[in-house]
Amino acid sequence: MPAPDLDTIVSLAKRRGFVFPSAEIYGGFANTYDYGPLGVELKRNIREAWWRAMVRERDDVVGLDAAMLTNPQVWVASGHTETFHDPLVDCRECRRRFRPDHLEEGEYGEIARDDQGRIRCPNCGGELTEPRLFNLMFQTQVGTVADEGSTAYLPPETAQGMFINFENVLSSMRRKLPFGIAQTRVSFRNEITPGRFVFRTLEFEQMEMEYFCRPDTAPEWHAYWITERERWYTDVIGIDPARLRIRAHETEELSHYSAGTSDIEYEFPWGWGELEGVANRTDYDLKAHSRASGQDLTYFDEEANAHITPYVIEPAAGLTRTIAVAMLEAYTVEQDEKGDDRVVLKFPSAIAPIKVAILPLSKKDTLAPTAHRIHQLLRPHWMTQYDETQSIGRRYRRQDEIGTPLCVTVDFETLEDEAVTIRDRDSQAQVRVPIVGLVDALRERLPGL
Ligand code: GAP
Repeated sequence: MPAPDLDTIVSLAKRRGFVFPSAEIYGGFANTYDYGPLGVELKRNIREAWWRAMVRERDDVVGLDAAMLTNPQVWVASGHTETFHDPLVDCRECRRRFRPDHLEEGEYGEIARDDQGRIRCPNCGGELTEPRLFNLMFQTQVGTVADEGSTAYLPPETAQGMFINFENVLSSMRRKLPFGIAQTRVSFRNEITPGRFVFRTLEFEQMEMEYFCRPDTAPEWHAYWITERERWYTDVIGIDPARLRIRAHETEELSHYSAGTSDIEYEFPWGWGELEGVANRTDYDLKAHSRASGQDLTYFDEEANAHITPYVIEPAAGLTRTIAVAMLEAYTVEQDEKGDDRVVLKFPSAIAPIKVAILPLSKKDTLAPTAHRIHQLLRPHWMTQYDETQSIGRRYRRQDEIGTPLCVTVDFETLEDEAVTIRDRDSQAQVRVPIVGLVDALRERLPGL
């Protein structure tokens, strides 16, 4: 099925409690979003699926949770204060600000040009200034006196936490090359961007891993991580491989630290866009921090009997961007037996916000105690939802639309035979199972959860 348009997903996300525009009661706040009761579960599940693949199921990667506010010298040494800029143009009439590459790439639709071929403002048609460089990092003040010495930065990536803790992890965890350090955390960038839901926001969550290896093995590991990460999107997040591609950066696109980056791109409703970058950061960061801090950040290579500075391969994914993609991919419209549209979010079970819904056939008091007993039986195992309002057909539709893989229906027969019905979201098949065997029957249908 072709991916839906973005408006369909934005509206479902709001209506069903996944993602809300932030501060809506005050008229909103550009490019910021709040995650609602179901969005927070989806986010947690995707983060957990990433952690599972990158840390829990591997011997060569460990986790980290570094402070967000840190010594500003970190950002000087990493090159971010000097080079983490976007060129921006301003409209001389309406004062709106744009990224010239976004204008060229058609992110604001068809653009008008003057008779000398210069782009006009897509908002009011006014004249645009020449591009000027703006640093993307947000600044803040630490302490009570606002002077230059108190300036700190909100992190624009999680990666630096891994580099400045390289020696700590190496010695405390007795690691040998190759090994990785992984972290998921919020990052901040002062992005000027056309509103495209959670694709590009001021505050977003990243899932990054720095994989330290011998310099001569870096090309091999780079290729390995590109394949591995693409596989994660298809096998775990459920993305159709036809809507994924790998694109190597042109030299002029490369970040200041990269000797080569390949993006895993997704075909969004508006065209191809980055989902994850897999970069060969070489020894850039470890050497930069070693120079700036005066600390030795080398590794003793027993094979070579020498100290070396490892190279780093970095798969850097966007958690919040993956949420948009997971919803776009899961969205399906089918005809039900009456010929009506049935909207289903066909999330893989591992990322579905609610795994099992408990639905008493009627709201009557006679069914409630048994239905509540079943709810109590299931909730220690999975994220569940109890719903007794409206007709059973409507409740099934509601669960389909939020992507709940399984519903358990409690009916009047249950009171006689101590059995319930499990209904499958995708096939809509129903099977009757005894309550004593319910947890096992559900576990069989939710493997690994
Ligand atoms: N440490 C490397 C790094 O940060 P990046 O390509 O700038 O690399 C990695 O970011 C991922 O983070 C991107 O592929 C994207 O998924 C996500 N990302 C970056 N900027 C974002 C933004 N403003 N809003 C949402 N996600 C963003």
